[in-house]
Amino acid sequence: APLDAANTLGFSAFAEWLVRPADLAELRGSLALARRSGWPVTLLGGGSNVVLFPRLEGLVVIPSGVRRWFEIDGEEARLHVEAGVDWPTLVEEVARAGWWGLENLALIPGRAGAAPVQNIGAYGVELADCLEAVHVVDLADGRYRVMARDACGFGYRESRFKNELSGRVAIVRLVLRVSRKARAKLGYGDLAERAAGAVHPLQVVEAVSAIRREKLPDPARLANVGSFFKNPVVSLEQAERLRVEHPQLPCYPAQGGVKLAAGWLIEHCGFKGTRSAAFGVHDRQALVLVHFGGGKACELIAFAARISAEVERRFGVRLEPEPRRLGQEVSPGLVV
Ligand code: EPU
Repeated sequence: APLDAANTLGFSAFAEWLVRPADLAELRGSLALARRSGWPVTLLGGGSNVVLFPRLEGLVVIPSGVRRWFEIDGEEARLHVEAGVDWPTLVEEVARAGWWGLENLALIPGRAGAAPVQNIGAYGVELADCLEAVHVVDLADGRYRVMARDACGFGYRESRFKNELSGRVAIVRLVLRVSRKARAKLGYGDLAERAAGAVHPLQVVEAVSAIRREKLPDPARLANVGSFFKNPVVSLEQAERLRVEHPQLPCYPAQGGVKLAAGWLIEHCGFKGTRSAAFGVHDRQALVLVHFGGGKACELIAFAARISAEVERRFGVRLEPEPRRLGQEVSPGLVV
């Protein structure tokens, strides 16, 4: 089955087998079939944070349940969301209904089920701040498990789902915490200015969406996966050394050190707005690599490696890719 429309980089990729289970029974049935057939299983969401190589062996599963419901408790509520729900639509819908909590995470492409994998974050809020639990199905035996937030190992663009649980569980539901009480978090960048006087979460959604539209390319028009690198976290000493030479370098306090703006580092190596064959560095946000069409995953990886090598040479800082790589270059055994 072709996955060309299932990844926002628009790469040509092919899954040996593909299912889009809409409920638990369908998911378990597919997993049982994969076990009996000895197929490896790859989970996919909206494909907005993956670099797909041409061939995915075995079974690709795109969980596609789209139910969502509230469990209201006075001013607070638990919001249950199945993995297939479109994240930006959910954020807007929940804010429109007057619930606070998700508004800073507006317009992040992708499906709800993928949000915990990289602990999506923007404008001073990350998923972990509004998440209570993640419901998963074990790929090995179909067992259902509820993982409390603290069991998910969340960090900056990190989780256990991205690491040791990768390829071991399917996320089927999120339980989010939302509130009727106003609790705007407007501390990041110029959000306070842009959302000044916001009394309804939809106003924050609109301000965040406007900022994102100014800087980030819409994947429906220009293929991309958002930030291609994580913002690097360096020691306090290294950050201080860099700041002596580059006083303009944006720094943020982070767990275990200081987080540097990778977009700034890339821009100051002269890459912003440049193009190399099918790929480019976005002209309004250097952390985003874009695909103009006709390129391949291995070429994008090579392009990204050139950028990080130059950043390392100039600033002594190593950039780590943010999206995950899935699939293989060619089918094993294929001789050409
Ligand atoms: N900057 C530059 N040049 C650039 C880009 C950024 O100098 O080309 C500077 C900006 O001027 C600013 C600082 O870097 O001072 C931070 O820029 P921005 O607010 O745009 O955020 P970011 O650190 O580049 C991160 C996330 C984004 C998220 C924004 C807003 C990562 C890897 N990226 O980007 O997330 O939307 O903050 O919170 O943490 C994503 O993960 O795909 C993503 C888009």
